[in-house]
Amino acid sequence: MRAVRYHEYGSPEVLRVEEVADPTPGENELLVRTAATGVNYFEVQVRGGVVPDPLGLPLPHTPGIEVVGTVAAVGSGVGTDRIGQRVVGTVTHGSYAELVAVPAAAAAPLDHRLDEHRALALLGQGATAVGLIRTADIGPGETVLVEAAGGGIGSLLVQLAKRAGARVVAGASGSAKRQLAADLGADVTVDYTRPGWTEEVGPVSVVFETVGGQTAREAYSLLTGPGARMVIFGSASGLPVEIGSEQLLPVGATLIPFSLGYRPRQWPEFTRHAEELTARGEITPVIGSVLPLTEAATAHRAFESRTAIGKTILTT
Ligand SMILES: NC(=O)c1ccc[n+]([C@@H]2O[C@H](COP(=O)([O-])OP(=O)(O)OC[C@H]3O[C@@H](n4cnc5c(N)ncnc54)[C@H](OP(=O)(O)O)[C@@H]3O)[C@@H](O)[C@H]2O)c1
Repeated sequence: MRAVRYHEYGSPEVLRVEEVADPTPGENELLVRTAATGVNYFEVQVRGGVVPDPLGLPLPHTPGIEVVGTVAAVGSGVGTDRIGQRVVGTVTHGSYAELVAVPAAAAAPLDHRLDEHRALALLGQGATAVGLIRTADIGPGETVLVEAAGGGIGSLLVQLAKRAGARVVAGASGSAKRQLAADLGADVTVDYTRPGWTEEVGPVSVVFETVGGQTAREAYSLLTGPGARMVIFGSASGLPVEIGSEQLLPVGATLIPFSLGYRPRQWPEFTRHAEELTARGEITPVIGSVLPLTEAATAHRAFESRTAIGKTILTT
């Protein structure tokens, strides 16, 4: 089969399409023939050596954690009745490939109300957005700042925050992502890469923080009022959230870290909830770009140049 691999960390050019041995499904695994796989920004950061591989796997490495496709074979412990089933599922790595061995417990039948691409958009990013909204516990009338509002998670968060009754301020770089956020219901959009952007925003009670560095410090300065909170879920700039006591003490807002990794058992339920809201038409996943697997480097470049919008998908 063909798989995307890299033998060293570095620029998107290290991603190569190579012939490799087909995987064999192990005990309680399905072998899925990939129709499409999702791209997540985290994979871009790991490939670039910006953040260490959390699994510490040796190179060469095939990235990717999301797959949708058809069950081609099953390992021991799985009924053969699953062969031929269309499934959407997660793996720890290795989904940028034509065949993927997926734990049977991590692969659900594709919801007939969703197409393959929307199912991929909801699998990890939809689950994260749902987990974030629940963690923030937004009340009606609150003002919420969503960072990276034109991205995969951000575009869903804007919609979920509106649905929770919040006034939504969408932060993003560039006009295309701001326009998308406005189209999805954001009340205000702002380019937080421009100096002085906080003056355009005013007080907020919740920040969904995923950029880090100076943007995080500036966003924290907007937090006002009892119960103000910053929910931290990423570090897109590669810089940590560093808010000193001179800034923490006068503002007093709570910092809340969020990771799906803390809640592996809740992950499927978060995904199902995002799917249900989508099927009911309450939220709409945005499919920004669909490229062939051979264009994985193009997809990664788009994230690095901050031109990726919504969900990016690779098809086999
Ligand atoms: N905590 C969790 O459980 C969890 C789960 C999945 C993902 N994540 C994190 O959530 C974040 C969003 O993930 P995603 O896959 O949906 O990605 P994404 O939002 O589609 O793309 C990354 C975003 O980062 C922003 N960004 C800010 N500074 C950047 C920089 N220096 N270079 C490139 N992009 C920059 C970009 O928006 P602007 O250009 O508009 O700033 C872009 O929209 C990532 O940081 C990811 O690691 C967390």
